[in-house]
Amino acid sequence: MRRVFSGIQPSGELHLGNYLGAVRNWVDMQNEYDCFFCIVDYHAITQDYEAAKLHPRTLDMAVSLLAAGIDPERAVLFVQSHVLEHTELAWVFTTVTPIGELERMTQFKDKSRRQESVLAGLLNYPVLQAADVLLYKAQMVPVGEDQVQHIELMREIARKWNARYGEGFFPEPQPAITHARRIIGLDGQAKMSKSLDNTIGINESAESIWQHLRPAVTDPARVKKSDPGTPEKCNIYSLHQHFSPEEMIQEVAEKCRTAGWGCLDCKKVLGEKIAATFAPFRERAAELRADPETVFEILRDGADRARAVAEETMREVRERMGFMPADQYARR
Ligand code: TYM
Repeated sequence: MRRVFSGIQPSGELHLGNYLGAVRNWVDMQNEYDCFFCIVDYHAITQDYEAAKLHPRTLDMAVSLLAAGIDPERAVLFVQSHVLEHTELAWVFTTVTPIGELERMTQFKDKSRRQESVLAGLLNYPVLQAADVLLYKAQMVPVGEDQVQHIELMREIARKWNARYGEGFFPEPQPAITHARRIIGLDGQAKMSKSLDNTIGINESAESIWQHLRPAVTDPARVKKSDPGTPEKCNIYSLHQHFSPEEMIQEVAEKCRTAGWGCLDCKKVLGEKIAATFAPFRERAAELRADPETVFEILRDGADRARAVAEETMREVRERMGFMPADQYARR
C-alpha cells in the first residue's frame, strides 16, 4: 500500500481553509492508503506563540481532526514532538540543504518580512517538514497549494541525501492537491489563515459563523443592495461552491447578477450551509472533549506506531552515514 504523510500546526483552530484544502482529503485517503497524520508542534514554535497555549491547542487539534473523521483504526495520528527522530533527521538534512534554497521559499519570504529579527528555525522550517515526510518514506503528501514549494524542496533534499549516502533510499514525495487548493479568507484577498484573522473555524457555532460572515468582503463593485453583482468576483460565491448544492449555486449566481438578493441574504444561506455541514463534527468534538483519556490513548498509540517506523529509518540513516552505533558503544 502506498504511504501518505501530512501535518498540521496546532497554532489555532482548524479552519475552513485547512479542512477543504487538506484535511478532507486526509479523511478520504485513509480508506486507500497507509496514512500518517501529524500535529506538528515543532513547526508551530517557529513563529511567536504562547507556551501556555501549546499543549491545550495540540490536544484541541487532535480532537478537531478526530471529529472531522480521522479514524485511528485506519490512520496513525500523533504529535510530532512525541517522536524524537523528526528533529534528528531534520538536523541531518540541514547538512545537505543549500541555504539559498531555503531563502527562496515564498512562505519564508512572507513570514520573515513581518519579523524584526529572522530566526534560524523559520528558515529551517521546510527542512523539518522534509524530515517529517521522509522519516516514513511517504510517497504522497495531501496539502493545500501553499505547501507545494516545500514539497519540491523536500524532493531535492531526498535526491541530495540519496546521491551521497544511498541511491533510492528516500522516495521523492508528490503533493496531492484538491480543487479547494487555495481558500481565500473573509477579507476576500489573502489565503484563509489564522495569522491573518480571516478565518471561520469548523467547530464554531452557527451564531459565531454568522458573526464572522456578516462583515466578510464581497464583490467590491456592489455597494448598494440594488447594484447587480458579479459572482465570479465574490469570495462568498466561491465558498458556496464548497457547501451548497448545484441548484443553490446557480440560484446564488442569478440572484447576485440581478440584484434579487443582497449580499447579506447570500451570506445567510452560506452560513446555514456551513453550520449544517459541520454540526456533526461539533457534536463529536464535544463528546471527545468530555473524554480526554480516549484522545490521550489514541495519541499514545499513534506515537508508538509512528516511532516504530521512525526508529528503523534513523537506524539505517545513521548506518549509511557512518555513525558509531550507540547500542554497541554507548549506554543510552
Ligand atoms: P498548516 O497548519 O499551516 O496548514 C495545514 C494544511 O492546510 C492547508 N491550508 C490551506 N489549504 C487551502 N486553502 C487555505 N487557505 C489553506 N490554509 C492552510 C495547508 O496547505 C496544509 O496542507 N507546513 C505545513 C505543516 C507541515 C506539513 C508537514 C505538511 C509540517 N510538516 C509534512 C505536510 C507534510 C503547514 O503549513 O500546515
